[in-house]
This record gives sequence, C-alpha cells and structure tokens, in this order.
Amino acid sequence: MTIQFKQETFRDDFTFSNSPEAIRRFPFPFDRDEYMYAVNIEQHMPGPAKSAFEFPIDIDEHYVAEMQDRALVLKEDPLRCQSLPHMITAEWDLLELLMESMAKNYPEHFTLTKDGDRWRWVNRPLGIDQSFTFGDVSTLPYPPMEYVTRQCQGDFCLLDQRLDNLWMDSGIVTTQADWSLDFDIGMNFMEWHAPVPLAHDLGVFERALKFLLNLQQGRPVRRLNWTMTINPRLDTSPENYHKWGKDRTTVTPENVGDKVHLRVELQALWRLPRSNAIVFSIRAYMIKMEELVTVPKWGRRLHRVLRGLKPELVEYKGLSRYHGMTVDWLSRHDDGAPTSPGF
Ligand code: HEM
Repeated sequence: MTIQFKQETFRDDFTFSNSPEAIRRFPFPFDRDEYMYAVNIEQHMPGPAKSAFEFPIDIDEHYVAEMQDRALVLKEDPLRCQSLPHMITAEWDLLELLMESMAKNYPEHFTLTKDGDRWRWVNRPLGIDQSFTFGDVSTLPYPPMEYVTRQCQGDFCLLDQRLDNLWMDSGIVTTQADWSLDFDIGMNFMEWHAPVPLAHDLGVFERALKFLLNLQQGRPVRRLNWTMTINPRLDTSPENYHKWGKDRTTVTPENVGDKVHLRVELQALWRLPRSNAIVFSIRAYMIKMEELVTVPKWGRRLHRVLRGLKPELVEYKGLSRYHGMTVDWLSRHDDGAPTSPGF
C-alpha cells in the first residue's frame, strides 16, 4: 500500500486538509450522543483494513508534513524532547518497537535489516539510510528516542514504573493539546492528571492506574481522547500559547466550518521488554467541521455531544469562546433522527 504524502502546513497559511480517504478513516470517537470521562481502555487489536487501527503504528498521508513540523518545533524549543538518564534502555526499546512496526506494516516505505546488533534503517519518504549499532548511542545522530520519533507521527511519553506508580521520566511532545512535557517531567500519574476536572471524583484515574501497572508485554491497549482546535495547528502547547490562544477569538458564525477542528488523540500503551517501562503514544488526528459533516451521522452526533457537554469539560478543553457558535452551526446538520449506539 503506497501512501501519497501531502505537502501541507500546520501553521502560518494552514494548508492542511484531509483527502476523502483520510476523512473515511478518521477515528471518530463518540459511540453515543453524550460524552463523559470513563476508563475507556481496550486491547490495541488490529482493526479493519485502511482504518486508523489497522496497524499498531499508523502512518498516513500527513506523515512527511508532520515530521517537518516536528523538526521546526524542536529547532525552536529543544525542551520538547527530554529524557532522564535512567530511561536510556526504554529509549532503545521504543526505537525497536517503532522501527519493527513501521518496517513490517509499510515495507514499501521503511526497511529494517539486522545482523546481530548491526542494524540498518531505511526511511524512503524522508530520504534516510542509517546503519547503527543497537545499544550504542554514539552510532546515531540523536539519542534513540529522539532519532526514531523524529520519524514517527505522534507524541511519545516513556513511563518508568516504581513505587506502584508511573513516572513521566522521558518524552517527545510537539503536538500536544495544551500541556507541557517540560512542566510534567518527573511527575507521577496522579500528579500530571491533577488539572483534569470531575474524573478524579469518579475514580477514573485510580482504576486506570491499577490497570496499567499490570499491563503485559505483547498485549498493548488503546483509548481515544478528544478536544477541539482552531485552525489545523498541531503545536498547541502552553509554551506557544501566545501564538495560538488568540485564534479562539477569531471564530465567527460564518467561519466555524473552516476554522473549528475536532482533534482526536489515538493513545496506545505498550509494556517494553528490557526496561519494563511503558510507552504512551498520543497520535493526533484533526478534521474541520466542513469535512466532518460529509459523514451525516458524525455531524448529527457531534452536535448532540457538544450541546450536552458538561460546563466543566467545556471550560477545561478550552472551548468556551466558540462552543455556542459551533453547536449552532452543527445544529443545521442534525435532522433530529434517532442514532443507535456505536460508531
Ligand atoms: C489528560 C497524560 C493515561 C485519562 C491528560 C493530560 C496529560 C495526560 C499530560 C493533560 C493534563 C493537563 O491538563 O495538564 C497521560 C499519560 C498517560 C495517560 C502520559 C499514560 C500512562 C491516561 C489513561 C486515562 C487517561 C489510561 C484513562 C482514563 C485522561 C483524561 C484526561 C487526561 C480523561 C483529560 C482529557 C481531556 O478532557 O481532554 N493525560 N495520560 N489518561 N487523561 Fe491522561
């Protein structure tokens, strides 16, 4: 399966868009007409062909442009990639996981060959051909996590497990929905989730942590999370709030369809073999309202979800300034027909 990689931007002139095929495979996250936080974790099993779940690591038409955007972010702000020294084994584990998965599932784009510890990695879309020694950092141009994640869509956190908790001791985070690795590094599961409203009282984090502490190697899991973003901007970090925060004031009833994007995060978790760490991947998919309503059941359902969203979530997700306008715009795409549970 050869992917046609698009040339597009996630900043300045915002030329990002989804092809009809990318719209069809968008991981729409709502299986009912209302939304509330829950421990929505399921096995990360292969999904239907061409879906975002077909392979453990999903590469799509936005790959090359996203990697260019990541390089720009890292150039401006190297602290988006940080790793405490004890995480080096987990970094190699991650490199192995990503290279093996990409080479296995997209052989026309990536090739990995091994001769003992001597590995050769070929990445055709980015024009890379790198021979290196697995386990020897001096043989790569960047440390292993940074090397491989400059070539893989999505943000990644490496979590160390100790004292019955998970610790964010390593990560590369350039496409985040308003949280900061530089702020969270070294925190544990409860600490970095502290700002989330309502979920603590529902016991969501207590149960999720208990589940993850027992995550088994070879049995990855996934969940979907979502928010909304004005303009297709990948880097909505607190560090750059001065660049994108004001975008929220530019939404009008006329431009909702073009400016307002649903942003879905496909989050997956794997237990890593040598380090016993966990990798948490956060792969962001964006779709503007005009594209979303080309699937009538999505337009109908998102209207209802947003209309009924609890004020605490509207506030936390940063939707307050344009929530009402978006609900009004989507109401034109809701004929009131009953919907059934499921996607
Ligand atoms: C939000 C990280 C796993 C549920 C967040 C935030 C971070 C984060 C950094 C933003 C908090 C802020 O406002 O600063 C992680 C990491 C995980 C993980 C590294 C890997 C172990 C989970 C799991 C659940 C979960 C397993 C399952 C229930 C949530 C929810 C939010 C959140 C509900 C609020 C999201 C929103 O409304 O947009 N997470 N998380 N997280 N996380 Fe996690």
